[in-house]
Amino acid sequence: MTDNKALTTAEGIPVADNQNSLTAGSRGPVLMQDFYLIEKLAHFNRERIPERVVHAKGAAAFGTFTVTQDITRYSKAKVFAEIGKQTQVLVRFSTVGGEKGSADAERDPRGFAVKFYTEEGNWDLAGNNTPVFFIRDPLKFPDFVHTQKRNPQTNCKDANAIWDYWSLNPEALHQVTILFSDRGVPKSYRYMHGFGSHTFSLINEQGQRVWCKFHLKTKQGIQNLTSEEAVRVKGEDPDHATRDLFEAIEQKDYPQWDVSIQVMTEEQAAQHPDNPFDLTKVWKFSEYPLIEVGILELNRNPENYFAEVEQSAFSPSNVVPGISFSPDKVLQARIMSYPDAQRYRIGANYQQLPVNQPKCPVAHHQRDGAMALGNNGGNAPNYEPNSHEGSPQQNPAYAEPALDLGNVKCDRYNHREGNDDYSQAGDLYRIMTPDQQEQLIQNIVGSLSQAGTDIQKRQICHFFRADVNYGRRIAEGLGIVIDPAMIPTSA
Ligand code: HEM
Repeated sequence: MTDNKALTTAEGIPVADNQNSLTAGSRGPVLMQDFYLIEKLAHFNRERIPERVVHAKGAAAFGTFTVTQDITRYSKAKVFAEIGKQTQVLVRFSTVGGEKGSADAERDPRGFAVKFYTEEGNWDLAGNNTPVFFIRDPLKFPDFVHTQKRNPQTNCKDANAIWDYWSLNPEALHQVTILFSDRGVPKSYRYMHGFGSHTFSLINEQGQRVWCKFHLKTKQGIQNLTSEEAVRVKGEDPDHATRDLFEAIEQKDYPQWDVSIQVMTEEQAAQHPDNPFDLTKVWKFSEYPLIEVGILELNRNPENYFAEVEQSAFSPSNVVPGISFSPDKVLQARIMSYPDAQRYRIGANYQQLPVNQPKCPVAHHQRDGAMALGNNGGNAPNYEPNSHEGSPQQNPAYAEPALDLGNVKCDRYNHREGNDDYSQAGDLYRIMTPDQQEQLIQNIVGSLSQAGTDIQKRQICHFFRADVNYGRRIAEGLGIVIDPAMIPTSA
């Protein structure tokens, strides 16, 4: 007999029979007691999660990003720290409009999403194989995508809706021209470029910001299918690009892309004839030449499609120190939309799944939710600020420079600055009747007496700042000796 592993239930209980249900007599019926049968059927019923609302059909592989040129003058991101540095990546390619089972050879943009597992968190570049997009205002996205999907009555693709939309929205023309060009149907995912498409920003150690666009140029050379070839390929093998990527990597024919950036200074942006944050426009190479950064290589296939590809979650909101956003309206909306989609599609704790987990320590105060893995923060406090030692702390060194929009600066403004937190609380105390004041003091003393002495003293200072009498009575009620430092000097 071969030395097979023991078959168990999901609870680890050894299974004696995986072929025959437990029945009353050989002809049945089956017994309720056959929990193993019920577990198998019930779990099977729950195998599907919602497919991505767009980009549902995709293929992915793991690999490395290697820095070949120094761009630390532009970005302090650790991923670019030194020439030769390697970072693990996951890349998912996709078509946009079709369902999870649709054909790969559709005339459609291709998604080109890269997750860089950096030591300061995951950086996702969720781009396409085109440098521009159909819309410049995110409000249009659902309407646009509806026209690319199925007609609500016929459940068929609807050329009338597609062209109805495009004919009414000329900002799509640049992307439509690319889509219907020879590059509209890449031969497979290996033979196409990738683009971050949006304008992003890079921030260096000195806190200086430049605007940037990311480019990934295929080292396999651009190759495409004609419309006729695409029709044939769709019939012969609807999964041809998925299969091509998998087989190339199995055969150690690892696909590579040259990664480079275009850079625009804030001063250049102010002089730029177009809006440099308009997603329907490119920046000319003659004005903003490509600057080499590194090489992306894919060299490992996922072992399990569902765990590592279907459950993968890419988001433009995932940027790391040294790489950031821009005022591009579509980018701004995507920052919200992707994690929102993933909380629905995968679940509130999707970032805890192995494929999405950062390869660096994670320390925050989020807790619970469906399927919280690991120790869920253990016994550590689940709020901040707090008085506990060793609790994760913010680090102002990571603050981005304010974004100056001319008449207004976007920044994290201190909400306490210029705000009086005490006067109205003091006024309320002062208009209370003596009986109401007494109840208030007793209620607070009853509750605060259960907190630590340091916390009591810190809180008493606030009561003093609202009203000296208020503070004194609480201190007395708690039996705390009043330190003059507790009383505001103006009192
Ligand atoms: C996937 C929304 C524009 C590239 C998705 C998903 C949503 C979405 C909800 C599914 C996410 C998931 O379930 O994991 C939007 C919205 C857009 C927009 C609201 C504009 C307002 C764009 C643009 C690009 C892009 C401009 C490229 C430059 C992608 C890619 C994926 C994707 C590559 C698939 C990521 C993966 O492989 O998992 N989009 N999108 N999208 N989108 Fe967008």
